[in-house]
Amino acid sequence: MTSPNNPFRASLGSSPPLLVGRDEVIEDFALALEEGPGAHERVSLLVGARGVGKTVLLNEMEDTAAQKGWLTFSETATEGFVESLKQQLTEFLDGERSNAKRSVQVGPGFFRYKRESQAPDQTRGSLRALLGQALDSIADHERFNGRAPGILITIDELHYVHQDEITEFATTIQHLVRENREIAVVLAGIPTSIRPLLASQDGKNPITFLRRANRIDLGTIPAAEVRDGLEVPVTLAGKEWDERALQYAVQASGGYPFMIQLIGNFSWRFADGHVISLEATQAGVSKARKKLGQLVHEPALSDLSSEDRRFLAAMSLDDGPAKVTDVAKRLGVSDQQAYNYRARLHEADIVTIDRGTADFILPFLREHLRDHVVADVLRIEPAHPPELG
Ligand SMILES: Nc1ncnc2c1ncn2[C@@H]1O[C@H](COP(=O)(O)OP(=O)(O)OP(=O)(O)O)[C@@H](O)[C@H]1O
Ligand SMILES: [Mg+2]
Repeated sequence: MTSPNNPFRASLGSSPPLLVGRDEVIEDFALALEEGPGAHERVSLLVGARGVGKTVLLNEMEDTAAQKGWLTFSETATEGFVESLKQQLTEFLDGERSNAKRSVQVGPGFFRYKRESQAPDQTRGSLRALLGQALDSIADHERFNGRAPGILITIDELHYVHQDEITEFATTIQHLVRENREIAVVLAGIPTSIRPLLASQDGKNPITFLRRANRIDLGTIPAAEVRDGLEVPVTLAGKEWDERALQYAVQASGGYPFMIQLIGNFSWRFADGHVISLEATQAGVSKARKKLGQLVHEPALSDLSSEDRRFLAAMSLDDGPAKVTDVAKRLGVSDQQAYNYRARLHEADIVTIDRGTADFILPFLREHLRDHVVADVLRIEPAHPPELG
């Protein structure tokens, strides 16, 4: 999606040219790594909607730790992730053993582990035993050359369907934390996938570890920082924004991180020459909205029932929070039925609720519904023409 020299990264999971609005999270985390075992941010949980920047923040936190010499392992919480983590640890320990035969020298490239795509082999020992050995091994390094003070594990896309493995992982980490080992963990996921993990369940221990974690709810980014996020990469790449175009882009992003990249990317592409004009930016914003629809809104809507989609379409006619009773009228259903739809959509993290109202959580879902869904699904005339501003 990137034309030559385009500095923006308009795809999920790709680190932006400038990560904005997350300095405090990163600084707190960096301090916790230095503070030693027991620092709260050493076990952190990033929670937020699609495209809000969980994965790229995880990557940034890994970089922060790696810069401090920490050994880092990253996993995605798909089936078998504990086994895969054990495999990574086994490889590390094997490397340590063969290195030890030659010398105690460990190169910097040695300190980061990413999941390999091949199926893990049978690994030795429990996760706890392997992590214990790895921690002992790096403690030795620290004695020799002051490197690798600890181990960071990041787990992305946490989902309750893998509850058993997550519990196994959490139990292990909990033990190591209690033993004051130099370990840090950052987990990330969308609210609906995490909520059941945090809830107390009959016959099963709630994952107290997750509940006590330093929870970071990631939301939208303030305008001044969005502005930096759009302006600095353009300047560094040798172009500039027309001032009105930049203001328009900042406002159109709604502070939503994925939109910063999409708008930046397309405005850059449509710019003709050195300055990104207002026209190029307007075209860029419109294209960015379409892309966001394809990549975020359509997948979210396709998970819902047709009744729930109709409810959302009826809601989208309001510019702000929609009254449930109004939505019921538009749909021709009873108030009680409309309240049931609202409850389901709230549970699915599509809407927030307040007294008698519902509002959208995903940025620009309202506009997407107005543009693409209202006419097909609802067959009702908008109360007033949809506005795209
Ligand atoms: N703080 C930020 N500043 C600028 N751009 C950002 C920021 N955070 C995320 N982005 C951009 O937004 C997009 C989405 O980020 P990311 O993939 O991390 O989201 P996510 O929350 O992991 O989404 P998903 O739930 O789909 O996995 C990427 O293009 C990324 O470069
Ligand atoms: Mg992600």
